[in-house]
Amino acid sequence: MSAGFITHLVEYGWARQAIFLDADLTLALAAECQGLNDQNLLRIAKTGRVTKPDMQMGLQPKIQNQAKTEAQLRSDQISWLSIGQSLACDQYLLLMESLRQQLNRDLFLGLDDYESHFAFYAPGAFYAQHRDRFQDDDRRTISVVIYLNQDWQTEQGGALRLHLNDSKPLDIAPEASSMVLFLSATMLHEVLPATRDRLSLAGWFRRRL
Ligand code: OGA
Ligand code: MN
Repeated sequence: MSAGFITHLVEYGWARQAIFLDADLTLALAAECQGLNDQNLLRIAKTGRVTKPDMQMGLQPKIQNQAKTEAQLRSDQISWLSIGQSLACDQYLLLMESLRQQLNRDLFLGLDDYESHFAFYAPGAFYAQHRDRFQDDDRRTISVVIYLNQDWQTEQGGALRLHLNDSKPLDIAPEASSMVLFLSATMLHEVLPATRDRLSLAGWFRRRL
């Protein structure tokens, strides 16, 4: 990762690399994600934990105490990765391992773990405004999203929308091979619905407890 990428992450709380995965690995991972969907092996995503109160606030400012149900919050389908499930996933996890080491070297973050899942957003699927860090578990430190969609057109929607402090929201198209990193604790973000299937890998570098 270039020094500019790391500097941008520190300065703005997010950074994007247009080409992170090589073309072959992107295709292999996209095929695997598509295959999991075709075989009905993806599952409705759950956060499974208490989320930050301000997450619900962002969704429903008038009724702050009433949590949204999972289905109102997100409608993607996921499959968690494990080591050894495929050559492509192992190659990807190896890349993330070297990124973890670089982040620790450059930023002294003490990241000791990476968890990741495929995510499949069917047309119309979304993920409402949220932050990635759980209220009862603050290990998630850096969020990662890698996109697997060839020839994405802006009009097809599906942007990752980052709600930045002191500036307009920033929309990032989910283009094949690209990667976005942001700070899990602070970055408010959402996934806008698309008119086509939207495939990605989401992941989190976690600190020790
Ligand atoms: C997530 C998430 C963003 C994206 O999975 O928590 O915010 O662009 N994903 O898929
Ligand atoms: Mn998120």
